[in-house]
Amino acid sequence: MTHEALFDLLIIEDDTAVLHLLHETFSEQGWTVRLAEDIAQARIEMTRSMFRVVLSDYNLPDGFGVDFLAEMRGTHRRTVPILMTGLADLNVAVDAINRGNIFRFVAKPLDIAALITAVHLAIEQFESLVKQDSLTHDILAHNRRLQSAAVETETLLRNAHDRIRSEEQTVEQQKAHIESLSSELQSAYLDMVTSLMTAIEAKDPYTKGHGERVSRYCTMMEDVLGLPDADRSDLRFASVLHDLGKIGIPDNILRKPGPLTPEEHRVMSTHVAFTDHILKPLPFLGKVRRIIREHHEKFDGSGYPEGLQKTQISLAGRILSVADAFDAMRSHRAYRKALDLPRAIRELKAGSGTQFCPLCVGALVLSLENQAEAEQGLPQISSQIPQTEELIALRLASDPIPTNSLFG
Ligand SMILES: [Fe+2]
Ligand SMILES: [Fe+2]
Repeated sequence: MTHEALFDLLIIEDDTAVLHLLHETFSEQGWTVRLAEDIAQARIEMTRSMFRVVLSDYNLPDGFGVDFLAEMRGTHRRTVPILMTGLADLNVAVDAINRGNIFRFVAKPLDIAALITAVHLAIEQFESLVKQDSLTHDILAHNRRLQSAAVETETLLRNAHDRIRSEEQTVEQQKAHIESLSSELQSAYLDMVTSLMTAIEAKDPYTKGHGERVSRYCTMMEDVLGLPDADRSDLRFASVLHDLGKIGIPDNILRKPGPLTPEEHRVMSTHVAFTDHILKPLPFLGKVRRIIREHHEKFDGSGYPEGLQKTQISLAGRILSVADAFDAMRSHRAYRKALDLPRAIRELKAGSGTQFCPLCVGALVLSLENQAEAEQGLPQISSQIPQTEELIALRLASDPIPTNSLFG
């Protein structure tokens, strides 16, 4: 439609004199004007060109102007209709306005000044309709752009989300795979080492089942102290493997039916370094090796190999040291019988703060006493020692906990 010529006015008037008068008048206003003498000609004009305003007489040779204007409203929505008539009949005016949606009704004989004003207003009306339409068009276009941008953004987001999900899944799968490999490797290694331990136990009947029992005592202390799972797993390895290096100790020393001489003791003490040496190639046992290296350290610094004391020794190392010594007390030796439980507990308490960490002794004694009472059907006293590792470390750094504070 935009390629068609746009005129200001189409005048439909069968009275030639009036038609030419109007043509002249409107042309003088600077308006572009086309003329029609009947409806048929007006229709042809309307198909050829576009008009801002159509000014039609009421009575035309081939019909009523009001009918033509009504018809035109259906096809040329923006074109503004003005009706002229000599019939001073109110009914005609009302009918015209209702059916033709007429913008202005101009009575004949014509008041030219009033007619010019009416056409001016009609042209303004046309322009405002065009502006409205273009605004509506812009808004709709803008909305469509927004909608398509929203759809695009949603698609991008969904794709990104899908990609992240699939990457996460891949990472999860890889992690699970690595974890399963690592746990396979660990359990294979533990199997291998357990069979080594069995070989040592065969060498020294007095150490039979020692690793397993030490591991059990460690678990009892862990339960009381509330150790995290990762530390428990390290301590489990360490307790089973701690004496692995005894495989390198000569039988005459390992199985000597009596106390060791200082030199024999020195040889025996090399089992710690030897265990460390065997485990060194396995990077995932780093923490386990530290715990094992500490199992003969003493709380007061008189142990070996480093002479570490208090919190220089890891909590796991202190736990293992107590468990190890306690199992030794409770086991038969070639040169002495196993201590009974009350005696062994007294020994532990006596060594608390010197050989042993008081916190660990407290935890083991509490657990043993609870166990004994449970076996006798007595109600258990308490569940946990209300101490955290940090709190203990702080207190140990300045002021060792008096032994009796843990036992009441
Ligand atoms: Fe040992
Ligand atoms: Fe041991």
